[in-house]
Amino acid sequence: MAMTESKLEAWLDETRSFAPSPEFAQQANAQPSIYDEANADPVAWWRKEADRLTWTTAPTHSLDWDLPNAKWFSDGTLNASYNCVDRHVEAGKGDKVAYHWIGDAEGESRTITYAELKKMVARTANALTELGVKSGDRVAVYMPMIPEAVVAMLAIVRLGAVHSVVFAGFSADALSSRILDSDCQFVVTADGAFRRGTASPLKPAVDEALESCPNVKAVLVVRRTGGDVDWVEGRDHWWHTLVDRQSDQHAYESFPSEHTMFIMYTSGTTAKPKGIFHTTGGYLTQCATTHHYIFDVKPETDVCWTAADIGWVTGHSYIVYGPLVNGVTQVMYEGLPDSGGKDRWWRIIEQNKVTILYTAPTTIRTLMKWGPQYPDGNDLSSLRLLGTVGEPINPQAWMWYREHIGGNRCPIVDTWWQTETGAIMITPLPGITSTKPGAAMTPFPGIGVDVVDNDGNSVGNGEGGYLVITNPWPAMTRGIYGDPERFQETYWSRFPGKYFAGDGAKRDEDGDLWLLGRIDDVMNISGHRLSTTEVEHALVGHPAVAEAAVVGAFDETTGQAIVAFVTLKLTADDAAKDQVLVIEELRTHVAKVISPIARPRQIILTPDLPKTRSGKIMRRLLRDVAENRQLGDVTTLTDPTVVNMISELMGTESTSED
Ligand code: PRX
Repeated sequence: MAMTESKLEAWLDETRSFAPSPEFAQQANAQPSIYDEANADPVAWWRKEADRLTWTTAPTHSLDWDLPNAKWFSDGTLNASYNCVDRHVEAGKGDKVAYHWIGDAEGESRTITYAELKKMVARTANALTELGVKSGDRVAVYMPMIPEAVVAMLAIVRLGAVHSVVFAGFSADALSSRILDSDCQFVVTADGAFRRGTASPLKPAVDEALESCPNVKAVLVVRRTGGDVDWVEGRDHWWHTLVDRQSDQHAYESFPSEHTMFIMYTSGTTAKPKGIFHTTGGYLTQCATTHHYIFDVKPETDVCWTAADIGWVTGHSYIVYGPLVNGVTQVMYEGLPDSGGKDRWWRIIEQNKVTILYTAPTTIRTLMKWGPQYPDGNDLSSLRLLGTVGEPINPQAWMWYREHIGGNRCPIVDTWWQTETGAIMITPLPGITSTKPGAAMTPFPGIGVDVVDNDGNSVGNGEGGYLVITNPWPAMTRGIYGDPERFQETYWSRFPGKYFAGDGAKRDEDGDLWLLGRIDDVMNISGHRLSTTEVEHALVGHPAVAEAAVVGAFDETTGQAIVAFVTLKLTADDAAKDQVLVIEELRTHVAKVISPIARPRQIILTPDLPKTRSGKIMRRLLRDVAENRQLGDVTTLTDPTVVNMISELMGTESTSED
């Protein structure tokens, strides 16, 4: 488990709960009968919910299930982009705002209506066609948080092509390995991005990545910062030249429900990220349905703000697809929470009358650290619902969110899900569920969840175990791109017949669900998934490193932080170097190879690592050391004195934090 029992005890306060207000309950999209209806026949219920979409051919067939392969609504056909954009314009809602886009810099904003979005998507689809993009092709998107990122995604799926959005904070190496893994032949990017007023280049990372990707034929580049860029004639195309001269009309084609829509890479327990892929009809159905009930959206009046990046699955499902299928107005923000001041978020909410805010616990903890004077100084009375996602939320942060942001009036939905699940799976329903600070509470209607022991038997109330999903669901991943065996092995083998999520969970005395963090070698750093092996690989790729072991240790703000134990190949050069310099060099090296989010909080240089007699590094013990705990069983170690030595080193090592 990612945290100790004692810390857990301190976290869990199962007695406190908040009942929904009668006013909210009365007008809520979800009424209590939803659970009985959905759970009586989940497949039929999802089929009914699939009518939220406009199908070119309505499906008559709901589910084919041949574990682990699911097909939802397989004889239906549709176009994802038409469902997100055109149909709202056809319904007379062209003047409705789709996005209030707010730039990193104060005062920079764009308002994009559904009619404008339709034209932008049509032009981009025509431009991509001119570049040669066809149905089934993979297109990498490496973009800052600007409207063109959403437009590119919609244009790609409009053509039946497959987007693979790579978070713009990832390095050139990470980008090239993702491009190669799914053989993307096109890239959409920007010259750079703005962060707290500073322009940082993106195009050079693409140029570097493409040195090892010979199959990439074309790169479409948005001018965002206006910085100088290198240009490869014939390969690189400016967005403003190619896209802007296209027709704003584009006739769409319909694709089968199971047509692949996108790939999203996420960390597993090995060094190689997994290309999780999703298909169309089931994914869109669950995104729209969860968005409708969980966020209780009223498209006529709500302004939704999912404060995430489109480089992660939260951005895909709740900035792009769910909200657009539902035809709501959103805020999309480019900057950091403190771009232009620590009250920036609250000013955005006040100025745009945001009604629904969805963010991650790590951000809430950061905002909390800055102090209540920032939110308290703004009028947040437009807010009516708050959501959280990405990691377990500690009750203190939950209470702060409720009091200072939600004015003790907004329901909070703590939503558990994963890149693999595509959409929310466990959550309270506002207006129905009495919420407990720190608990995700109940499976969404139509979703089967269990907590099981080592042998796969359900645990009783008051007990903990492994989280599993017992039935197929519409937005479930259809697999790991190009690796069906790894899909079967990772998710469907630990407990036969059940999906193994990799998370620990507990049912409290009332049977409500508490998520306890990852139980495998996946770390959760500020809501970002990274594997220990990925970081170890990056470290041993440095010429000075002989061996490395990485663990995720508890961190008050980021949830977990990376602690690395490293043995050096001591050359005369290294020996002469100051230890602090070596550590700094290694931290920078990891940031460069993977991403700044992977920069270890702490690196301990040690002459040896604790190993079993069969040569396996005992990460469990290193986690104990990193979290300053009593050491577990050391009897299987070849040399039990090694851990004591490391503990001492740890005590003398200074922690360097950014
Ligand atoms: O450990 C769980 C944690 O995030 C993991 C999924 O990460 P990712 O695929 O990057 O998707 C994040 C956004 C959906 C899960 O295995 N996690 C996500 N939401 C919660 C959570 N842990 C506890 N509570 C949550 N609400």
